[in-house]
Amino acid sequence: KCEDKTITYEAVKAIADNILSRIKVKPVIGIICGSGLGSLTEAITNAQNIDYKDIPGFPVSTVPGHAGRLVIGMLEGLPVLAMQGRFHYYEGYPLVKCSLPVRVMKVMGIEYLMVTNAAGGINPTYKVGDIMLIRDHINFVGFSGNSPLRGPNDDRLGPRFPPMTDAYNPALITRALSVAKEMGIPDVVKVGTYCFLGGPNYETIAECKMLHTCGVDAVGMSTAHEVVVAQHCGLKVFAFSLITNKSSLDYEKKEYANHAEVVAVGKSRESTCRELMCRMIKSIAAE
Ligand code: HPA
Repeated sequence: KCEDKTITYEAVKAIADNILSRIKVKPVIGIICGSGLGSLTEAITNAQNIDYKDIPGFPVSTVPGHAGRLVIGMLEGLPVLAMQGRFHYYEGYPLVKCSLPVRVMKVMGIEYLMVTNAAGGINPTYKVGDIMLIRDHINFVGFSGNSPLRGPNDDRLGPRFPPMTDAYNPALITRALSVAKEMGIPDVVKVGTYCFLGGPNYETIAECKMLHTCGVDAVGMSTAHEVVVAQHCGLKVFAFSLITNKSSLDYEKKEYANHAEVVAVGKSRESTCRELMCRMIKSIAAE
């Protein structure tokens, strides 16, 4: 008998139907807000909030800096559903539960997933406050088979063996680079590879050196499992990392990553991140 309990299509559908029955619009864009970036939702008009704890079958987030609610409303002319607070593997949830909201979005009829996160800058040219558009990821947590797709596959959610080529929609990356130019911040916006580690501890110097050798530009504790599920179920993904700290690659420099700094940098850059997100949604609305 299979050891991993999957979350059934029926369970996902029940959550999707519950949310749809309570909201006034039918969202086409889903947004997941990273640490310190929850105020992206302030731009949403006619907002309806639903706390995770009031959605039967939904997990609840436990991290300071992550509020734990859905915000549904209009953004740049499109109906959106934003998650203020996501679920991390280190909180103790299995990956299938961490990424359950992505499947709920799909079953609700959402087409695009926009993801943000806070990340450590492994690429030595990155500065604190830079925004890295995610072109690709290295899913370290997945290397040994720890995947949200592990267990029996339900073809109604997606195929058994989904490709991950272009998991991050290349056309949306190209568009975001034009948006960055329009915003006058082309130097702040980079394009790179994100690496998902389990956390919750930050990386050792040796780990950072290894990630650098492996072609990683930024490291964090989220996103890849959500994007694997999004790609499995056929959502178009756009994602970016806010570089909240520089990962230490040098034993002589005593640099200590900490959550307060991560959240503070998020706060200081949230209006820029919000504007980038809004302009991306505006360009999708114009399609
Ligand atoms: N490492 C992992 N996750 C993070 C970091 C980091 O340096 N900064 C923000 N999230």
